[in-house]
Amino acid sequence: MRKKLVVGNWKMNGSRAANAVLLAGLREAGPWSADVAVCVPFPYITETALALTGTQLAYGSQDCSAHEQGAYTGEVSSLMLHDLGCRYAIVGHSERRAYHHESDQLVADKAKAALAHGVTPIVCVGETLAEREAGQTEVVVKRQLAAVIHTLTHCIGEIVLAYEPVWAIGTGLTATPEQAQAVHAVLRTQLHAATQKSDAMRILYGGSMKADNAVALLGQPDIDGGLIGGASLKAADFAAICRAAG
Ligand code: 13P
Repeated sequence: MRKKLVVGNWKMNGSRAANAVLLAGLREAGPWSADVAVCVPFPYITETALALTGTQLAYGSQDCSAHEQGAYTGEVSSLMLHDLGCRYAIVGHSERRAYHHESDQLVADKAKAALAHGVTPIVCVGETLAEREAGQTEVVVKRQLAAVIHTLTHCIGEIVLAYEPVWAIGTGLTATPEQAQAVHAVLRTQLHAATQKSDAMRILYGGSMKADNAVALLGQPDIDGGLIGGASLKAADFAAICRAAG
């Protein structure tokens, strides 16, 4: 039995004042029986760590460098994230693939760098609307995951995978539980061929997950949690999803 994991991805939102309110709200709303984490903008990691001290909530970043250290202006390494106590780093989010032209291989390299420093990568895969309509969903997500499997080899069992259909992100359009489950099952089968640990691996769904659709999505056999964008910015909304995962 896999323990559910709910992760808030704040994206480029927040301020010191707003974060303090949100994190205090989460402190009060927990504990939950699911694992819960927030992935916050880099500048807020330290304050998040302080605000969550003594709670069950873990925290992490929304990206990390594929490099360990050196002349990479603007980059943040997983070594630094580990130093700050981050448990997770999201890698390969579709917004980074689209706006920062991250390739499947770069995403895989970032996942490898995270693991090398004890940070669990939450590797995102997902198809665009055009790809879905062209019947390419499976081909796309399998290609994205294959790069990570190839690069991590026997360590693939250490990642968290997130299926985020691009057309469902921030649009209010959610994949139906059946649509999401179908892709999750494909991904688990692919993981199964690569590692004996596939049954223990968590595959999260992300894309307009809210309290009112979370129960049905999280009730699917291969959906092991959620990666939550918009609904992670209000403590009550996020807490309701965390409860639904319990
Ligand atoms: P929304 O929940 O806002 O659709 O965002 C999902 C997402 O991209 C999480 O990484």
